[in-house]
Amino acid sequence: MNKPLGVYVHWPYCARICPYCDFNVYKNRAIDADAWIAALTRDLEKYAARTPGQKLTSLYFGGGTPSLAPLPVIESVIDTCAHLWGFEGGAEITLEANPTDAEQSRFDGFASAGVNRLSLGVQSLRDDALKFLGRDHDAESAKRAIEAAQAAFPRITFDLIYGRPGQPLQDWRDELSEALALGAPHLSLYQLTIEPGTAFAKAVDKGRWTPPEDDVTADMYEAAQEMTAGAGLPAYEISNHAKPGEESRHNLVYWTYGDYVGVGPGAHGRLTENGARIATETPLAPKDYLDGAPHMETTLSASEATIERLSMGLRLRNGIPFTEADAFFTEAGSYERLDRLIGDGLLAWDGDLLVATDDGRRILNRILYELFA
Ligand SMILES: C[S@@+](CC[C@H](N)C(=O)[O-])C[C@H]1O[C@@H](n2cnc3c(N)ncnc32)[C@H](O)[C@@H]1O
Ligand code: SF4
Repeated sequence: MNKPLGVYVHWPYCARICPYCDFNVYKNRAIDADAWIAALTRDLEKYAARTPGQKLTSLYFGGGTPSLAPLPVIESVIDTCAHLWGFEGGAEITLEANPTDAEQSRFDGFASAGVNRLSLGVQSLRDDALKFLGRDHDAESAKRAIEAAQAAFPRITFDLIYGRPGQPLQDWRDELSEALALGAPHLSLYQLTIEPGTAFAKAVDKGRWTPPEDDVTADMYEAAQEMTAGAGLPAYEISNHAKPGEESRHNLVYWTYGDYVGVGPGAHGRLTENGARIATETPLAPKDYLDGAPHMETTLSASEATIERLSMGLRLRNGIPFTEADAFFTEAGSYERLDRLIGDGLLAWDGDLLVATDDGRRILNRILYELFA
């Protein structure tokens, strides 16, 4: 029996494009459900042939806004995955949804199709912030969506974005405590990132507003750590908080550097074949994807795979298995670099597990830069 596998399905359409978002997204247009079913089935079959004997631990519909995808597309992907691989007991099937009223009416259909975990992009429980973030829902419809999701699915999670310009620390604390009171067993709390090429990047460049200083967002991050832990949903990853047992199995496949298949436009995958790590990437444009344009495929070098594995694993509060036999130590100067970061209190290593400390996790990019300098 091989190790478990995840499948990521990218649905690239959204009702509108949010000004902060740099995902591979396109404004909704007429969708030919049959063409999508054919293209997704084609690729699932192709990757299933390369992963024989593996069962799925997780299937994840991300986007874009997969809660706007035609129900037959979702049903077809779930049935095809069941037929090609089969699901492990307790497998997680997640779908990302925007919390508009229109989408809530579709929850029961997704649940009947087999979706057992809903991830809602709430982003904020403040109407003015939702407006600033360009969202087409308000705080009340977000709360209604959370309630409807709790009734329709065994597991739910929702996303919030903090570190908005002018957001006072106390207001973030109040918002987060309202969010925790809603009783979801998992929360993703993201610091607003100004991504190059987005409408927000242009606004910041033109001086229309300024993102908060690092010390302000550091205090918000700390408040989130303390409040979620106090509420029984401690951080298990930099931005993710869960009741024990409610962690996202899908994201754990990424963070533990497991194998996953990526289908849909611009989806990434990682497979292990004959001991080598293979990176796959599908064409970005929906039309190219539907037309069957070739996927990119690269065999990662041992050091590229090590960089990826550490970049992923050090995000986890519990760190990753790491011994002196690790390929990392074949690089010149690696012991010294590791020692320096341990001496600075940013990493901890007991010979079996490597962990970024609480201080280290917040500045993970610096750690990775120094580890692989
Ligand atoms: C792929 S998006 C999709 C979710 C869904 N389409 C929605 O918007 O509700 C996943 C999450 O990433 C977060 N996100 C996207 N861009 C971000 C940014 N620039 N800064 C912080 N968080 C961001 C949002 O919280 C969003 O819910
Ligand atoms: S945040 Fe969600 S709804 Fe907004 S553009 Fe990105 S994927 Fe689409």
